[in-house]
Amino acid sequence: MTRSKFVSWGLMALLAAGAVWMSNRSSDAQDKAAKVAKEEKGEQPKKTPIQLFMRKKLEATQKVMEGLAIEDYDLIAQGARQLRGISAAADFAVVKEALYTQHADEFRRIVDRMEKQAKEKRLDGAALSYMDMTMSCVECHKFVRNILVTEN
Ligand code: HEC
Repeated sequence: MTRSKFVSWGLMALLAAGAVWMSNRSSDAQDKAAKVAKEEKGEQPKKTPIQLFMRKKLEATQKVMEGLAIEDYDLIAQGARQLRGISAAADFAVVKEALYTQHADEFRRIVDRMEKQAKEKRLDGAALSYMDMTMSCVECHKFVRNILVTEN
């Protein structure tokens, strides 16, 4: 084999490897694009009604936080009202369980108090309630995760 033939075989092997690599790469990219397209269409991952309610809850807490930050009591009260409404709807969709109901009641008690404090223009009180509410989110989720773990 002449040297130039050897070089050209080597070159072809390299090109072939490169082509395989490129095609793998583009199929990766296609997979990713398909996944993103599905997510944008809301097909994946599929959210349960309760998960969608919870996303709304998250948005409402951001409203309260904004109200606390700029001392806008209407915004705090509005967020609190939304939280109560969403919470009522979300908990309706959950299987009734005594301990879950206890967590849900506690959450609504805190949210009611936060709304009252906003109406009375008590910023520190509302901020403390916001912290209590955060703990209540976390506690209920801990409880829910335990149930999901033990049921599976
Ligand atoms: C009384 C119980 C309870 C309280 C209180 C609660 N949650 Fe949830 N949360 C749930 C349940 C049940 C799920 C659904 C778990 C699942 O099916 O994956 C959930 C899931 C979520 C999720 C994930 C949704 C998703 O897309 O997967 C978010 C975000 C969330 N909650 C936010 C909040 C926030 C913020 C608060 C407090 C302001 C809160 N939750 C308070 C019960 C609660």
